[in-house]
Amino acid sequence: SSPLMGIQLPGAEGRIDPRQVETTPPFNDPGVHQVAPNQYEVVMRAEAFLFTPREIRVPAGADITFTVTSKDVIHGFYIEGTRVNLMIIPGQIARTSYRFEKPGEYTLLCHEFCGAGHHVMFGKVIVE
Ligand code: CUA
Repeated sequence: SSPLMGIQLPGAEGRIDPRQVETTPPFNDPGVHQVAPNQYEVVMRAEAFLFTPREIRVPAGADITFTVTSKDVIHGFYIEGTRVNLMIIPGQIARTSYRFEKPGEYTLLCHEFCGAGHHVMFGKVIVE
């Protein structure tokens, strides 16, 4: 495997001002947005030491695109049991797609050390 162990680095997806995350689309409207039949975009913000939103619900079998950025320092975005694995760099827009085949609950973890609260930085994905 590659030395990056599957972590996807930000590409040419775009840059924003990390100081303006809360007012910059699409991050001014975090959450689950249906964009087409059976297609959803999940917009998330990462900051020390939480994800916004903390919990999302998505349908099984749908095409999900995660769009994530950070307001402050480098965070991780890893959904246990999946290949969703991003490095979240302030001001860079990270994207990846995934389809959850079965209903269940998945833990979203920050897996980049980001400070004193790193170990409590997690969220939940509920697949229905
Ligand atoms: Cu955020 Cu570790």
